[in-house]
Amino acid sequence: MKNWIANADLKPYNTFGVSVKAKWLVECETVEDIREVVLDSRWKALPRLVLGGGSNVLFTQDFDGVVVLNRIIGIDKVEENEEYVWVKSNAGVVWHSFVLHCIQNQWAGVENLSLIPGSVGACPIQNIGAYGVEIKDVFHSLAAMHADTGELRTFDHAACAFGYRDSVFKNEEKGKWIILSVTFQLKKHPVWNTQYGDIQKEMERLGYATPTLVGISQSVINIRQSKLPDPKVLGNAGSFFKNPVIEESLYLDLKKQFENMPAYPAGPGKVKVPAGWLIEQAGWKGYQDSTCGVNAKQALVLVNFGTATGNEVYDLSTKIVEDIARRFQITLEREVNIL
Ligand code: FAD
Ligand code: EPU
Repeated sequence: MKNWIANADLKPYNTFGVSVKAKWLVECETVEDIREVVLDSRWKALPRLVLGGGSNVLFTQDFDGVVVLNRIIGIDKVEENEEYVWVKSNAGVVWHSFVLHCIQNQWAGVENLSLIPGSVGACPIQNIGAYGVEIKDVFHSLAAMHADTGELRTFDHAACAFGYRDSVFKNEEKGKWIILSVTFQLKKHPVWNTQYGDIQKEMERLGYATPTLVGISQSVINIRQSKLPDPKVLGNAGSFFKNPVIEESLYLDLKKQFENMPAYPAGPGKVKVPAGWLIEQAGWKGYQDSTCGVNAKQALVLVNFGTATGNEVYDLSTKIVEDIARRFQITLEREVNIL
């Protein structure tokens, strides 16, 4: 029988470091543990939440229900051929440990995603991405349990409907499935992704004349550490907003007024504008309220100075959304899951 902790403080379980209470908290280390929870009358009667690393959530109130911590670990190679290797990781594996395991085995594809916090089980939820790679590029399938019925189902690539920071698990299937494991299709002969940002420059600085998995991983780690705050030091959940995708016509209009506004192609007639640029231009970078603020090195990251409530962070985000809408006619969408 699993240990159900009543009235648990969730502060250690969310990287924003917000202190709220969960009516029940239960840690699961096996699929059988999860099944036991799904069959429990408390789970059936109350609101439910699955947490991995808690690095993409903002709690604005106590959670009056059951929080499951997915801690099912283990990584297995399931199949290989000349070109690919298929690797299954259980959902509770720490994402960066999985990346390191792949690099050690010379399996290529996730090195650009080094040091993203959180668990393997959460990586498909928002199709995590960084430095020119997204999960959808290496994803094969996932196994999940239905939160009501306990039914087991495999989701293949198409069923996940991946988009930019988006998947079926943020839309039609939101909250319905507990992800148990993810299978990745990785390459034995790497295809390097070194075009994004300063990767190339950082590899040269580190003395790598040609790309290697370790070289790319270390470069990405260094770049990330130079601008993203460590949640152990300063509570945060990474980018608070998505980079908005706007009509190219609006962008061309805005360019007349803001001639340095950056943008990247995002499909026919659309461009993606870095929200960090908009927030910095609007003067918010480094902004400090009494308990929370905007990171001084990366304006897309909101931070908790220690004692902020989720509502204080949320209110700050609302002020930023309103200000950006007023200045640029662009509506920022929150990336972080607000609870
Ligand atoms: P949690 O925060 O625990 O959960 C997030 C959501 O997924 C919740 O809705 C939760 O209910 C659901 N969920 C979690 N596990 C499961 C499961 N097993 N089954 C079903 N649902 C589940 N993200 C990027 O994409 N790119 C980045 O570069 C990046 N950089 C970051 C940097 C920092 C410093 C921080 C703090 C965050 C960053 N993030 C980034 C965001 C975050 O790391 C990712 O979203 C990550 O995938 C969240 O994993 P998690 O286990 O912490 O998820
Ligand atoms: N920029 C500014 N000021 C800032 C921050 C950014 O002007 O304070 C502009 C610059 O023009 C810069 C551009 O934004 O060149 C892009 O910045 P950066 O490379 O730091 O990336 P980002 O677009 O701000 C996205 C992801 C990150 C991911 C990085 C690297 C989103 C919402 N965020 O950030 O993901 O790590 O690219 O690929 O897409 C996360 O999701 O939590 C996250 C950290």
